Amino acid sequence: MTIRAKGLEADPHTWGLPGERELSAALAAYFPEFNPPAPAASPAYRPTVGPIGSEAPPQTGGGAEVPDDPAELSAGGALPSLGERPLAQVRADFPILSERVNGRPLVWLDNAATTQRPRAVIDRLVYYYEHENSNVHRAAHTLAARSTEAYEAARDKVARFIGAPGPDNIVFVRGTTEAINLVAQAYVKPRLTPGDEIILTNLEHHANIVPWQLIAEESGALLRVAPVDDTGQIILSEYAALFNRRTRFVSATQVSNALGTVLPLEEMIALAHAQGVRFCVDGAQSVAHLPVNVTALGADFYVFSGHKIYAPTGIGALYGTDEVLAESRPWQGGGNMIADVTFERTIYQKPPAKFEAGTGSLADAVGLGAALDYVSDLGLANIARYEHELLDYGHQELARVPGLRLIGTADHKASILSFIIEGRDNTEIGQRLNEAGIAVRAGHHCAQPILRRFGLESTVRPSIAFYNTPGEIDFLVRTLRDLV
Ligand code: ALA
Repeated sequence: MTIRAKGLEADPHTWGLPGERELSAALAAYFPEFNPPAPAASPAYRPTVGPIGSEAPPQTGGGAEVPDDPAELSAGGALPSLGERPLAQVRADFPILSERVNGRPLVWLDNAATTQRPRAVIDRLVYYYEHENSNVHRAAHTLAARSTEAYEAARDKVARFIGAPGPDNIVFVRGTTEAINLVAQAYVKPRLTPGDEIILTNLEHHANIVPWQLIAEESGALLRVAPVDDTGQIILSEYAALFNRRTRFVSATQVSNALGTVLPLEEMIALAHAQGVRFCVDGAQSVAHLPVNVTALGADFYVFSGHKIYAPTGIGALYGTDEVLAESRPWQGGGNMIADVTFERTIYQKPPAKFEAGTGSLADAVGLGAALDYVSDLGLANIARYEHELLDYGHQELARVPGLRLIGTADHKASILSFIIEGRDNTEIGQRLNEAGIAVRAGHHCAQPILRRFGLESTVRPSIAFYNTPGEIDFLVRTLRDLV
């Protein structure tokens, strides 16, 4: 692997990092069935186009016509546009999309695990550290003022992006997982008595299951689970039937990370509210793909991770209405969240500071603001329209691969194309795709209950974002056809 930075070429070994060979060995140790790609030109590999870059080509199943850059080959010939902007231009905003892996142009189809960062976000982080870095809210000096302004401006951007009434409704957290734990510990747990019930759905990520199990164990409460039909959509009548006088809270995802199902949240929230029950929305897989307005949706809490929407890892946001934030007790204790401390008692700040003990991930919050600006410039409606067409195209083309079964076929879906191929091992498929430069997740996607609902322990999961192209889908499908 060669790393190119600002016109320089560097071997990862010079930075003490593993090279291609060591990475292959590490993968092989993790997945015993993994066969590392051949280090040099392999007899099994017969590209009709010469290898790209300085690396040796990977070993594939052989026979596939390997395009120069899969992203450029679209079904209709030319690359489509995203709103006003040609897709080629949008793709050029993302430096990593020019990366090569295993000698092939990177095809990034693992967006549900994490998205890539545009230059605007990377530059914003660099600017922060070069010109603004200081702790926030704490000192009477210029850099503290700059960093505080940048950090609070980012909070304001989050509020506007998701349609919250104002920045005081936004708490910065590490990500969706931390946010759900916060809601469980700070709002729900103090309200539980033995025999109370919390409603989840069968589609939840482990991050929206385990925090509820923890507080249920501690309080003697029970979890009730709304089932799905064979397409992977919630059965609304069965969800409605779960409510009773012991129901205390509902938490549900907006988009399933394993199947891509978009849940009917408007109806689900209205049903909960009609019973006087509050609702937390896990927006991790929806925030980058659907226009979100938490006020119109009626969510009491809405949580998401920055890294799923082109922002850094380690930063996310929790939205809460004025009522639920006021009614939540502090989550962690420490500096920043207090108004006054003596050894006898502490007076807390108002939300959101009440929930932000200690020094947060300041630059990353600023980076999140930059990512939301970037996405807003492209337009969520344009993104949703384009991704929807690409998803439909992906379904149609994947369905033609012999033996391939799509898992998750609800009418309303976003981003995810989960599948299995009869008689093939999912991990092996993931590795073979990797050899062709295609990154997908193969595994249980931290959502074991919903895969088991379909009798599975794992799937192969390509997941798209707006920078993906029909040509990349074609290349994925061609590589899969080769493999089978
Ligand atoms: N939640 C992430 C995924 O679905 C990690 O892959």
